Amino acid sequence: MSQIYLDNASTTFPKAPTVANTVYEYLNSLGCNVNRGAYSSSFKAESTVFETRELVCKLFNFDKAENVVFTRNITESLNVILKGLLKSGDEIIISSMEHNAVTRPLTSLTKNNVIVHKVPCSKEGELCPKDIVKFINKKTTAVLMTAASNVCGTRLPLKEIGEICKEHNLIFIVDSAQGAGVIPIDFKEINASIIAFTGHKGLLGPQGIGGFLIDDSLVNSVDPLVEGGTGSLSESEVQPDYMPDKFEGGTPNVPGIFGLNASLKFILETGIDKIHEKELYLTEEFLKGISSIKEAKIAGLKGTENRVAVVSLDFSPLDNAVISYFLEKNYGIMTRCGLHCAPSAHKTLGTFPHGTVRFSFGYFNTIEDVNTAIKAIKEVLKEDLM
Ligand code: ALA
Repeated sequence: MSQIYLDNASTTFPKAPTVANTVYEYLNSLGCNVNRGAYSSSFKAESTVFETRELVCKLFNFDKAENVVFTRNITESLNVILKGLLKSGDEIIISSMEHNAVTRPLTSLTKNNVIVHKVPCSKEGELCPKDIVKFINKKTTAVLMTAASNVCGTRLPLKEIGEICKEHNLIFIVDSAQGAGVIPIDFKEINASIIAFTGHKGLLGPQGIGGFLIDDSLVNSVDPLVEGGTGSLSESEVQPDYMPDKFEGGTPNVPGIFGLNASLKFILETGIDKIHEKELYLTEEFLKGISSIKEAKIAGLKGTENRVAVVSLDFSPLDNAVISYFLEKNYGIMTRCGLHCAPSAHKTLGTFPHGTVRFSFGYFNTIEDVNTAIKAIKEVLKEDLM
């Protein structure tokens, strides 16, 4: 039985074609640290790290490579930003579609008197930008929104949100986990202040590498979460205040950065439009194919407009977990079932606490994968599952 990977929202697989070999080559032939050694292999590694910052800039239309900070993943990026930025009494506005990577650090910050406002989205996960305005007051510091839901794929209107932030002089933080690499996200066009990203989803790189881009005007307003050796200003026991060293204490994930370098080149060469078009084609065919299955209720938007290639199906009163299990066991179809680390999004969509079975397509999936999945769902539903 062949295996069909439809869990690309969790992490993409396969990765961009050159990623594995680039990481292998680095580990096998170069292997050195960065910013620590005065020898040529170290300079070579450093130049790839800097080039990767420039590739991130290119992807997000951002000007300053030094202000691209590398972290382990987007969760770490969001923790650095939120815990380093928000002070007692500050207020922040988020949407009801946010992931626990946003809501958990914010819940923790409420103990320090940070106030969190959640703008309710529609039952399809859509946000009406004007609703944000109702929550703005003199203490509002920032607005944080996801580019697209990891549960149902609905996109949030980043440009309109950015305009509201500009008008009210608010910091606009974007969680690009499900958008980067699959939809265009332009730092300037959406008037972003900070974009957090992860390397292992739409950016088609390895796990363990992520980061954020931060506007110059905010660098001094965010305290670092991790302080330590940077290979710079070694005579001082104080963390450097310049970029990117301010936020990059400790040896970075150099193999991960090499992998990200390769995957970003692949994405930039292929083009976001082509990637988006292919993924939406697969999504459209899947949505068409499942439309006749009465047991499969779509959580979120029914069509392909305003979405990324993530589809959540609710088979309740049947057990979603059982369906996900048999899709893999009998047909090799890999999905993610449950609440997808986003209870608030599931509450918005009306699928809490039972969750959904999530099918998420990637650039390397084929129409045959989609057709096999549709057929498998029909077959699984014929079985006596309970
Ligand atoms: N946030 C990832 C997901 O949606 C891991 O599966």
